[in-house]
Amino acid sequence: MTLRVVILLSGRGSNFQAIAEARLPIEIAAVISNRPNAAGLDYARARGLTAIALDHTEHPDREAFDALLADEIERHRPDLVVLAGYMRILSAAFIARFEGRLLNIHPSLLPMFPGLKTHERALAEGVKIHGCTVHFVTADLDHGPIVIQAAVPVRADDTPGALAARVLAQEHCIYPQAVQWFAEGRLEINHGRVNLKGDPTSQSVLSTGT
Ligand code: GRF
Repeated sequence: MTLRVVILLSGRGSNFQAIAEARLPIEIAAVISNRPNAAGLDYARARGLTAIALDHTEHPDREAFDALLADEIERHRPDLVVLAGYMRILSAAFIARFEGRLLNIHPSLLPMFPGLKTHERALAEGVKIHGCTVHFVTADLDHGPIVIQAAVPVRADDTPGALAARVLAQEHCIYPQAVQWFAEGRLEINHGRVNLKGDPTSQSVLSTGT
């Protein structure tokens, strides 16, 4: 049976695009954005996918909006919900409804730099390696079980924009890979850690970019 995936996004949607173009054994059942003018929705429509705008500004109560959003997601019977640049904190009730089938991508090597402005903070700290992480979402913001990470070197002359672009190129590699592993039923969460079934070392989860 093909894995049914619902994508949530708020903007550009380049990670969604990478997943959509990766020829994965999945069906993208719907793409939902909390921002009606998100470019990701236009791309979804252009691909003939179901694209839905649910404007959070019309629902000031976070709990109520998240309940509405969760109902909409469930209408599409997803096996997996993919956060692809969804720029809103999700309520605990929402996360509980989808826990175990909710993935996020974060532009840092978690647990370093949770939250926003990760590239600026990496440069300010002078780290020599930066990167991105795909993880399962739990109630602990940006701290769920890690599926895959990619690292990039930080250059002496880096700007936040240049670093972000190099990290983003890696995001486009690791997110489709994570979704593929999920689709193959290879991701097993054990005591907050992800084991990759069929990989005796469970270490093939780090790729290094340039
Ligand atoms: C990415 O950097 C992702 O890591 C973060 O938000 C950004 C979304 O970019 N969560 P896009 O919309 O996928 O292009």
